[in-house]
Amino acid sequence: MELKIIESANKKAKPSGALGFGKYFTDHMFVMEYSDGKWHDARIQPYAPFSLDPSTAVFHYAQAIFEGTKAYKNKAGEVRLFRPRDNFLRLNDSGDRICIPPVDVDFVLDSLRKLVLMEKEWIPSDEGTALYIRPSIIATDNTLGVHAARNYIFFIILSPVGAYDAHGPEPVGLYVEQEYVRASKGGTGHHKVAGNYAASLKAGEKAVKMGYDQVMWLDAKEHKYVEEVGSMNIFFVIDGKAVTPMLGGSILPGVTRRSVIEFFKSEGIPVEERLVPIKEVIDGIVSGKCTEIFGTGTAAVISPVGKVCYGGKDYVVGGGKMGKLSKLAYDGITGIQTGRVPDRFGWVEKISEE
Ligand code: COI
Repeated sequence: MELKIIESANKKAKPSGALGFGKYFTDHMFVMEYSDGKWHDARIQPYAPFSLDPSTAVFHYAQAIFEGTKAYKNKAGEVRLFRPRDNFLRLNDSGDRICIPPVDVDFVLDSLRKLVLMEKEWIPSDEGTALYIRPSIIATDNTLGVHAARNYIFFIILSPVGAYDAHGPEPVGLYVEQEYVRASKGGTGHHKVAGNYAASLKAGEKAVKMGYDQVMWLDAKEHKYVEEVGSMNIFFVIDGKAVTPMLGGSILPGVTRRSVIEFFKSEGIPVEERLVPIKEVIDGIVSGKCTEIFGTGTAAVISPVGKVCYGGKDYVVGGGKMGKLSKLAYDGITGIQTGRVPDRFGWVEKISEE
């Protein structure tokens, strides 16, 4: 497929000061459409709203999927992508779960490279910043019948970002949710499906109202095992080992999660992917066996957890500060992403005009 490029005639001013997360968008976006059984009309065009009929399927039945990845620019001006292919492969996997047709991964990757290079002036280079990349697919049939749509829009928008949490890289507080659940086996929790996030909002608002940053989700059946956190996967350091809930069909297979596991193993740190009872975590914090907790995600990066609220009681972990393994993961992963640390895994793709 040919990629058409339509340059914007009205370039926006770049943001100054703290970027926050997902507040600013660049001058261009990638768009392509699906109809009559194929993707077509791929283009990089000026960033602009879509005009959609009120009957559009995605508004009613949430047939929508998305991804999150980042481009980094280091002080030398090098533009780097981190495992972007993994995100497009996961996008197709999510699409399969809710009947969205797959995209050609090589084609969209190539289009993404072109888009990011066009917008390279927007990539921030300060510590903790990046250009967040949000590919999404929405169903665009105009009908109220409940069925898999025949028409879709795929788009990629770009946003210069800083820390995901409003208070920056400081340790976050998590509220262990014991009433609502995020996902059950056989559902869509294993996929990056927009509806998963709608289902999480009520508990998220409750947690924030109570003074916590995000929800720690337990399994839907027994409310006994930790699954993941609002916008990230979760790791515990228990008896010196990095322990993370195993992927059992209701947990998102995070790219950062996988990277931390591979990175720790290569550093000789024992990693366990297994069921993690919340009781083990709480008892471990009390006894001193659980010394650190941190979240992982593209948006969240490596996010230290300072306290956990369970059963109405707060448990402070690691003195409320970032621990040793959390810092090792942060330095290792962000170091590889930005080029401070050599990429011995082949995760980074440097992109340039030539
Ligand atoms: C990401 O980390 O990229 C996410 O998609 C999480 C969240 C912002 C929805």
